[in-house]
Amino acid sequence: MNRCGIFDSGVGGLSVAREILKSKLFDEIIYFGDTARVPYGNKNESTIIRYSLECLEFLKNFNIDFLVVACNSASSVAIEELRKEVSFPVVGVIEAGIKAIENENKNSNILLIGTKRTISSNKYQNALISLGFKNIISIATPLLVPLVEEGIVEGKIVDDIFEMYFRNLDKEKIDIIILGCTHYPFLEKSFKKHFPNAKLIHSGQAIVKLLKKEYNLKPKQISKIEIYASDNVEEVRKIAKKWLK
Ligand code: SIN
Repeated sequence: MNRCGIFDSGVGGLSVAREILKSKLFDEIIYFGDTARVPYGNKNESTIIRYSLECLEFLKNFNIDFLVVACNSASSVAIEELRKEVSFPVVGVIEAGIKAIENENKNSNILLIGTKRTISSNKYQNALISLGFKNIISIATPLLVPLVEEGIVEGKIVDDIFEMYFRNLDKEKIDIIILGCTHYPFLEKSFKKHFPNAKLIHSGQAIVKLLKKEYNLKPKQISKIEIYASDNVEEVRKIAKKWLK
């Protein structure tokens, strides 16, 4: 029996959980959404580290033998601290996202979006530069997080917020968008509408690829998930039913 713990600041990490569940790489997944303290992306580094260690502490009660940090903000500042705490593998969405595009054309125009903390940590940007990518535009787009938490993923409000964040970009020239926040894949339709030529890099799919390649995990017959949250449990239940079907 292998059991994977996944945590995120809220429900956005369900986009990662959904892909891992679909892949059946674990017998059991224990998901924890820290909905009482979402978002992490506007908080100080030391606060995000403390919250992340507390999420791990909670998940350790389930005897997990693998941890996926499904929150980009936590992956950008807390991954090393988490690794110091446990002897099992700890994988974050940033390393997975970077791996997913390492073989792309190095002249690609890349748009990196994430929370304030993820963008200011420069984790993605430094990794991209060391791989040889030159054309990177990074924009913090924190308003997209509460939109997704509210279940608003397309329509006028989303279009207006996209316009506010991206009005200075030549949208047709963007080749790759790194969705550097686990909430953003739920806005996929809106990204495709505004950026018709861009390939979207989705943390959940990137993590599954990395797990198969680097940890040699093979699909099981059955995989199940248990979901916990630190607040608004009824709301999380509704969202999880809708998103995980
Ligand atoms: C947040 O907690 O601010 C959003 C989640 C993420 O960074 O992926």
